Amino acid sequence: MKIAVLAGDGIGPEIMAEALKVLDVLRRDGLKIETESALVGGAAYDEYGHPLPAATLQLAQQSDAVLFGSVGGPKYDALPREHRPEKAILGLRKECDFFANLRPANVFPELADASTLKPEIIAGLDIMIIRELTGDIYFGEPRGITGHRGVNGELGNRVGINTMHYTEAQIRRIIHVGFKTARQRNKRLCSIDKMNVLEAMQLWRDIAIEIAPEYPDVELTHMLVDNAAMQLIRNPKQFDVMVAGNMFGDILSDEASMLTGSIGMLPSASLDAAGKGLYEPIHGSAPDIAGKGIANPLAQILSAAMMMRYTFNLPDVAARIETAVRKALASGLRTGDIAKANEAKASTQQMGDAVVSFL
Ligand code: IPM
Ligand code: MG
Repeated sequence: MKIAVLAGDGIGPEIMAEALKVLDVLRRDGLKIETESALVGGAAYDEYGHPLPAATLQLAQQSDAVLFGSVGGPKYDALPREHRPEKAILGLRKECDFFANLRPANVFPELADASTLKPEIIAGLDIMIIRELTGDIYFGEPRGITGHRGVNGELGNRVGINTMHYTEAQIRRIIHVGFKTARQRNKRLCSIDKMNVLEAMQLWRDIAIEIAPEYPDVELTHMLVDNAAMQLIRNPKQFDVMVAGNMFGDILSDEASMLTGSIGMLPSASLDAAGKGLYEPIHGSAPDIAGKGIANPLAQILSAAMMMRYTFNLPDVAARIETAVRKALASGLRTGDIAKANEAKASTQQMGDAVVSFL
């Protein structure tokens, strides 16, 4: 197993260190794991003047999987768009064709009271959001800001342009991932669109309907994205698998993560057609707590578990890591993001060490 380790910025390196300890245990137990690290995001910009240097992209392309931390920070906010740290993750997704983003939102029983929603609404929640990553308004052309800024108090005529763009091939392959995932779960797929307003989303719905007969064992429903945002809060357990485009999936998956109490708990997988993948926490680089040793490393550790399941086909190893995480939580350990006001707060390292000891 050749794994590219791209820790990135902010809390990325701190939480990655804990995930690497987990891989060390597996290596001691006999798994043939080879890791190689490279700079990415702001850290790469500082060193090489580009957030995704050619050497980093090449390492990702030559590895079986990428374990990714997080990128970005206020230090880079003034940079031109092509040099922003976010370009690194967008470039990796596009260049490696990691089109299928799996974002589970499940509630650990140990944390059922960490959500802002009533416990009965979220107890036992287990949904999977599948987000398309290579198309949509993220990459559509034309894009840009045109026109002139007004001078001397006159009104400018600037126009900001982005384009929602989806090809049939892009929609088809992600809808298939949705159906296949639903087939392995509770056989219900909800396709998210905005066909009442957007042509690109009419095509999305048409294609979902066309593909459905290939999966007679899966129940397909459709929901407009605004209603889906509301239903996720009203009654999230009505969902099994949701499939959405790049933009709507981005928004809904942040929303869904909060049903589970903490965005610090959730991993994700971004897969290509052959099962190669990039694995990263759903959360960002959290610059406000970076360097303090207090970030929750569990999303990064659970990302390594997803990597074992989806790229290396080792569900037992994945389950072993997940069980160790559950035991660390059951032992009462809480980082700041999941601790109650009166609870002692564990450090990043303490949490990682606990997972390692249960492993
Ligand atoms: C995510 C993030 C990224 C996205 C940003 C950092 C570019 O929000 O992975 O959800 O919008 O896809
Ligand atoms: Mg996001």
